[in-house]
Amino acid sequence: MDSSEWDARYSSVEHPWGSAPAAALSARFAELMPGRAIDLGCGDGRHARWLADAGWTVHAVDFSSVAIELARSGGEDRSIDYTVADARTWEPSEPVDLVAIGFLHLPVDELVAVIAGAASWLAPSGRLLYLGHALENFTHGVGTLACARLGWAAHDTPVVSLVNRPVDTLAPALGDRTRLLVLSRDEHTPAAVAELLTERGFGPSRLTVLGELGGPDESRLDGTASAWSHEPGPRLNVIAIDCRAESGALRLTRLPGLPDAAFTGDGQMTKHEVRALTLCALAPAAGEVLWDVGGGSGTIAIEWMRTHPLCRAVTFERSAARVDQITSNAAALGVPSLAVFGDAPVAFGDVPADLSAPDAIFVGGGVTQDGLLDECWSRLRVGGRMVANAVTAESEALLLQWFSRCGGQLRKFQVYRGEPLGGFTAWRPQLPVAQWSVTKQSKGVVA
Ligand SMILES: C[S@@+](CC[C@H](N)C(=O)[O-])C[C@H]1O[C@@H](n2cnc3c(N)ncnc32)[C@H](O)[C@@H]1O
Repeated sequence: MDSSEWDARYSSVEHPWGSAPAAALSARFAELMPGRAIDLGCGDGRHARWLADAGWTVHAVDFSSVAIELARSGGEDRSIDYTVADARTWEPSEPVDLVAIGFLHLPVDELVAVIAGAASWLAPSGRLLYLGHALENFTHGVGTLACARLGWAAHDTPVVSLVNRPVDTLAPALGDRTRLLVLSRDEHTPAAVAELLTERGFGPSRLTVLGELGGPDESRLDGTASAWSHEPGPRLNVIAIDCRAESGALRLTRLPGLPDAAFTGDGQMTKHEVRALTLCALAPAAGEVLWDVGGGSGTIAIEWMRTHPLCRAVTFERSAARVDQITSNAAALGVPSLAVFGDAPVAFGDVPADLSAPDAIFVGGGVTQDGLLDECWSRLRVGGRMVANAVTAESEALLLQWFSRCGGQLRKFQVYRGEPLGGFTAWRPQLPVAQWSVTKQSKGVVA
């Protein structure tokens, strides 16, 4: 990474390495007589601050000007000099008693040259400390190392990152007798994950928290989600979850459709069986964007997003109360990033650029609204799919017209549910649903 990439990193994440010093540094230097120190590749300055507080006169160097700015603002009132410079070429003007280089990962030949150069800056009896991550983290990914510790097969173990995502996003990956690894955001993530598991009916799951994997201070904590009581450990950690569902917990898989009972609200939704058929027609794939027009309870958009972590969706709903139910269903079902907008088609203009060319559009409400289908059609990217469901005769007639203009498939579903009738079971018919699905072949306006 060059300095501008590091600038971007420091601009987007507050204290990416935490504010406490690495234990390996503080443990080694707590008893040393302070003198002059250099923190090379100092980042936002956690080691420089710790050294200054321990009495050292510190020169902190990093080639990211954003990092140095952050370090400077957090290290006021301490005897620290800051310099924006490249560690590969910078040199101090006088010998020092200590050089600390924390997690400065350069190509090996450059790193060797930097460390050799840094050793030459030391006064007699001076110390040099280099801290780095295990090389396996780069060559195999942290997942492989974690699996090696646990005796799990890396190729069978999904990895979920919570580094920049809310803990709710773990929910779709949970399943009884599933194993998975979670990349933590910080030292508080294990407790948050244990709480989520317990809330979602996975309290009996076994958790193992592997801290500072591959480093000299590697650690391990074990426990059960519902009884997790460990104090926060290392900020850098991976959580291994051996999922166990409580008996009777609602079973929620990634495959549509979820039971209707998985959604809360006023019951305004495409029901289980037709929802499964609708998602099947929409055919989500990783990275695709859905517009769900007439969101109701958010079921279609939520299930679209649950099929793959990279699937994104926007939903449009005019009723404020339903906007709330969509948002709470999205969080409960593990897709809190579902974007909710107001009245379609007016709100189409509010959609941010990265979501503005949908790969698929579902129209579950407002089919008969003047111009709605035309507006949806014009927003759909060429090659995208449009699926519209109709329950009323009027909306069905409109779908028939669009089918005759644009082609595609027309289908009609009639579902009967077996329900109690006195002491017997009767086939209770659900409302029949007509469905038009089509792939947009060209930019052309519909005649
Ligand atoms: C992983 S961070 C570690 C920061 C700090 N040492 C700590 O442990 O908190 C690595 C740092 O090295 C800096 N860095 C990377 N290459 C560098 C170079 N050639 N010269 C100076 N700094 C560099 C980055 O800007 C970043 O701040």
